[in-house]
Amino acid sequence: MSHPLGTVRVMSRSQNPHRCAGCGALAPRWVGRCPACGEWNTLVEERAVERPGVGARAATAAPAAPAVAAVPIGQAPAVARHPVPTGLTEVDRVLGGGLVPGSVTLLGGEPGVGKSTLLLQLLGRVAANGARTLLVSAEESAHQVRLRAERLEAVTSNSWLAAETDVAEIEAHVAATEPDLLVVDSIQAVLDPGAPGAPGSVTQVRACAHRLTRLAKERTITTVLVGHVTKDGSLAGPRVLEHLVDTVLSFSGERHHALRLLRAVKHRFGPTSELGLFEMGEGGLEPVADAGHLFLSDRCADLEGSVVAPVLDGRRPLLVEVQALVAPAPPGAPPRRTAQGIETGRVHLMLAVLDRRARLRLASKDVYVMAAAGARIADPGADAALALAIASSATNRPVAPDLLALGEIGLGGELRLVPQMGRRLEEAARIGFRTAVVPVSAPPAPEGMELRRAATLVDALHHAGMGRALAPAS
Ligand code: TYD
Ligand code: MG
Repeated sequence: MSHPLGTVRVMSRSQNPHRCAGCGALAPRWVGRCPACGEWNTLVEERAVERPGVGARAATAAPAAPAVAAVPIGQAPAVARHPVPTGLTEVDRVLGGGLVPGSVTLLGGEPGVGKSTLLLQLLGRVAANGARTLLVSAEESAHQVRLRAERLEAVTSNSWLAAETDVAEIEAHVAATEPDLLVVDSIQAVLDPGAPGAPGSVTQVRACAHRLTRLAKERTITTVLVGHVTKDGSLAGPRVLEHLVDTVLSFSGERHHALRLLRAVKHRFGPTSELGLFEMGEGGLEPVADAGHLFLSDRCADLEGSVVAPVLDGRRPLLVEVQALVAPAPPGAPPRRTAQGIETGRVHLMLAVLDRRARLRLASKDVYVMAAAGARIADPGADAALALAIASSATNRPVAPDLLALGEIGLGGELRLVPQMGRRLEEAARIGFRTAVVPVSAPPAPEGMELRRAATLVDALHHAGMGRALAPAS
């Protein structure tokens, strides 16, 4: 008897739940195409968890006493878990002091951003402080890792190295070396032969991370897992591990710039608002302690179209130069608007407000906008600088080099307060900015700085020296 091929195939699949190896979605049974992401042939059977005695009969029996009794909340153990400094100041800043013993941290970032470099330096520092460390390299050979560690001056007698991908072997290495700090680079390259799926698939990554997390908790081993993510965060791994680990760090940066940013996306032991800054150089990652000048080093301050804004990234004020170039659009062509490091929607909004509230007509102009030196601005506090930079280029009037602008601009053209004005202005004053265009309700000026309070965008343009270039009110 013959069957259509499709029928045979479906019949041979088990009726147990299946998980998509691409996106991690759970389906009640096997289907050819993932109902969530639409990929074909990605569903892998989820192993039913074997629980002896939980049959139909056992389920109806009275539940047994729990192995560990619940306690009144006031009698729960009160021992705090204190972070231990790693010695890398920027990492410790982001972690709120350091790594908590026995905690599991996931370090995510795009391939090539510098995760392995950062962790080699971290291991070197921790080992130099007397702790025993184990690096499991699942991607690079021991030879490659050694060469890099030597170059980074991260070789110490109590840092151990194993080039290994099998999770059971990794457990054995941990038992043999008894490290205080374990780094696994990367979790996507580790394999659990007893679990289904290809290396790097959701099922595999999850199974391996589960085993390593259990090991970390049982033996109080501080553990860092590396996870690669692509730009859209789509690669299997980090996303599905976030709930499993205590801390998720994200390491990012532009490929063609040296700056690297470290942030805590999730942190069970402290705040997630700190920002760590590094520069990738010949000798690895250098901490950037004084971030004030970071984005201003090659600024041509006397050109039109350049205005500085003190933006906030996490809790850290950074001075960023917003640049604009306004040029006539070629006849017959639609005007072009491009933005780099600034959301395009924000640029369109500023153009509309400049048109309606300040009568600055730019409909026939090309407008190019960028955050200089590879900065990325997501802070509405940069609105005022953005609008002033566009107006400065359009009217061909430079603003004073030591003037900055801070405030969100509403659709009515009003200038609004943004969080942490005081800290931002203090940082700007420290770096040498002498004048700031700010909303009327801004806090008092820091020492050495004059505040020009503006209720509206038009006021702000007057304060920045562009008032007379505007068309008169009709
Ligand atoms: P790496 O740490 O291997 O990235 P990841 O582990 O996130 O994939 O970093 C790779 C890049 O860093 C590579 O392009 C070279 C660069 N790099 C330096 O510029 N200087 C250095 O000292 C090191 C070690 C790497
Ligand atoms: Mg790497």
